[in-house]
Amino acid sequence: MDRYALIGHPVEHSKSPHIHAAFARQTRQELSYRALLAPLDGFSDTVRMFRAEHGRGANITVPFKIEAYALATRLTERARLAGAVNTFTFEDDAIIGDNTDGIGLVRDLIINLACPLAGRRVLLLGAGGAARGAVFPLFQTKPVSLTIANRTIERAQELRTAFASCAGQTAFTVGGFGDLKGWEFDVVINATSVSLENGVLPLPGNIFAPDAFVYDMMYGAGDTPFLAWARTAGAARLSDGLGMLVEQAAESFTLWRGVRPNSASVLSGLRRKLASKSKAELISGREF
Ligand code: ATR
Repeated sequence: MDRYALIGHPVEHSKSPHIHAAFARQTRQELSYRALLAPLDGFSDTVRMFRAEHGRGANITVPFKIEAYALATRLTERARLAGAVNTFTFEDDAIIGDNTDGIGLVRDLIINLACPLAGRRVLLLGAGGAARGAVFPLFQTKPVSLTIANRTIERAQELRTAFASCAGQTAFTVGGFGDLKGWEFDVVINATSVSLENGVLPLPGNIFAPDAFVYDMMYGAGDTPFLAWARTAGAARLSDGLGMLVEQAAESFTLWRGVRPNSASVLSGLRRKLASKSKAELISGREF
């Protein structure tokens, strides 16, 4: 049986084994997928051990996505630009590193949520790892503009330098939250971790176009603190990042198995489970 794993620390809370088992049943693929706890100083040893057990591929989560980037012997373009790897495919001696987080976000928005990005004004909040992974896949959807705003402006400017050559026809602007005054956006994506701190971003309240779509990469039982703020600020269409979690998994599964699973049924099952919890901690759609 072909073996796959999620490697991270911690991993017990992960929904990935459940998601991949559901994909395997649906597509009648014979495979196993387990959560593999790596010691904090033992990521590469854990990968070596898993390959020795004939592991075919792995997902990588906190805190190893940067180490995984360094360990890969080949990188896809989107992984190189993200500067982080969440998917390994093992082929003979090669470790192919990919990053499916950004495309997971984009597919959730466009397909699951019917929120097109082409020709729209997109605002990305944050400039950490979550934001970086989203920039290239967002440009590929050809928005009319992409604006990145972050608390620490220098980090947004670093993204501008790193991704300037990917912008194509898209107007590409970066700045701080205060710079957004007077601007209006069709799609607003929160890639900061502010919801984890139960905090609020100091954003002007009138940044939403009349039918704006607001997305938080975090998810929990109800509205995240960011979505709750957006609702009071007048946004009518909102989503958390649960669909991103399922879509990044679906993309990895498709890479490994050559067949795309039906993510919608898995997503609705997870949504029902989450809704039955009175209170669930906030988790990122990037799997941590
Ligand atoms: P991740 O890998 O989840 O992106 P990260 O690289 O630590 O984590 O980035 C966290 C992001 O959330 C950053 O954009 C951070 O802003 P700074 O670059 O200014 O640190 C943002 N963030 C976290 N807490 C925040 C808060 N209370 N207010 C505003 N931004 C916050």
